[in-house]
Amino acid sequence: MGRKITLEIDGKTVEAEEGMTVLQAAKKAGIEIPTLCYNEQLEPYGACRICLVEATKNGRTRYVVSCVYPVEEGLKVKTDTEKIRRMRKILLELMLPLAPASGPLRDLAEKYGVKESRFQTEPTACILCGLCVRYCAEVKKANAVSFVGRGTERQIAFVPEVAPYECPSCRECYGLCPGGKIVEAESQGLLSMPITRKTAAGRR
Ligand code: FES
Repeated sequence: MGRKITLEIDGKTVEAEEGMTVLQAAKKAGIEIPTLCYNEQLEPYGACRICLVEATKNGRTRYVVSCVYPVEEGLKVKTDTEKIRRMRKILLELMLPLAPASGPLRDLAEKYGVKESRFQTEPTACILCGLCVRYCAEVKKANAVSFVGRGTERQIAFVPEVAPYECPSCRECYGLCPGGKIVEAESQGLLSMPITRKTAAGRR
């Protein structure tokens, strides 16, 4: 068990353990912080940034991503200020055009009063949360989904588009995907090809 850490979240004194993240400490204290790319089973990835919070230590205040930010002794955290709500609204406006049909995104947009986005982006059914990539690699020990490209070109790709096909066809990533990309991939037959369909030399 890690060293005990005492911090303050939304004015409440919270006991945590060294190594925990601010999001975990808040959850333990019954304080809700919105998330889109977080999953307890997986290594946090900090992709969607919707979980950002205000963190103050030694008189210095920063906005940090709570699902990856570690607890610190004496840290003071605010999870729901006016500025945080404004920042979350902008993030939602940026993500909504990418996956306009996404249930989790729409729910959060409604909660934060985002009716429509000022940004125009080609819909991809993917907010690059990385849940499918991480779940496949970390839990299933397969690599059927991966990230390709950088910056604005970044996207997820399904093998056999880019690599030896390793999808175990478990379909467990379906329920994780907030944007709908996985269902789209399935409809294109990318998740149901036999393992021998396209393989690298030396692989079955
Ligand atoms: S939930 Fe923390 S960055 Fe997505």
